[in-house]
Amino acid sequence: MNDGDTDPTQGGTVFAPWVLPGLQNSAFTKGFVDRILSHLKELDDSRAEARGFDKVTRLEHCLQTATLAHQAGEDEEYVVCCVIHDIGDLLAPFNHGEFAAALLEPFISEKNYWLIANHHAFQGYYYFEHIGLDKNLRDTYKGHPYFDDAITFCDKYDMPAFNPDMEYMSLDDFEPMIRRLLMAPKKSIWVPNPPQH
Ligand SMILES: [Fe+2]
Ligand SMILES: [Fe+2]
Repeated sequence: MNDGDTDPTQGGTVFAPWVLPGLQNSAFTKGFVDRILSHLKELDDSRAEARGFDKVTRLEHCLQTATLAHQAGEDEEYVVCCVIHDIGDLLAPFNHGEFAAALLEPFISEKNYWLIANHHAFQGYYYFEHIGLDKNLRDTYKGHPYFDDAITFCDKYDMPAFNPDMEYMSLDDFEPMIRRLLMAPKKSIWVPNPPQH
């Protein structure tokens, strides 16, 4: 049984009722963002395990994707989505897009959620044929309102981000953006009065 009145920063329960109104600024939420950053760093130790990652690591790929989006003038939410879009590559190799999208869902728009959830089908246009899959799998989504946005995500940002010669922003550069987005959930049963977009 929890006593409903302990401090989560001191190892106490996070189920204390008084924590919920301040959840967005709680030590628990800060710890969540710290764990995201920590796992992104683990993506830097994955060279040569999969096609494309023999020249750049998964972390370098994510940072290059986000740098390209940032340089193109995409907004902060979109840029953070780019940093995180392949975070599931090691933990969820068979559905890494849905994994990242589920993680980001409380914080992002319906469009960005859809882009991240389905980006692997669109990215497959560039390599599925080399592994015996249908490179045109993305065509099954034709007619979807975000189809063209997913093409843009892959063409402009995801696909060009396997460049060993590219100069790109560091995870430290993106950290303030990541913290701003992930400490402000907008859709969650634990946030009864979320700020409006
Ligand atoms: Fe991906
Ligand atoms: Fe990617």
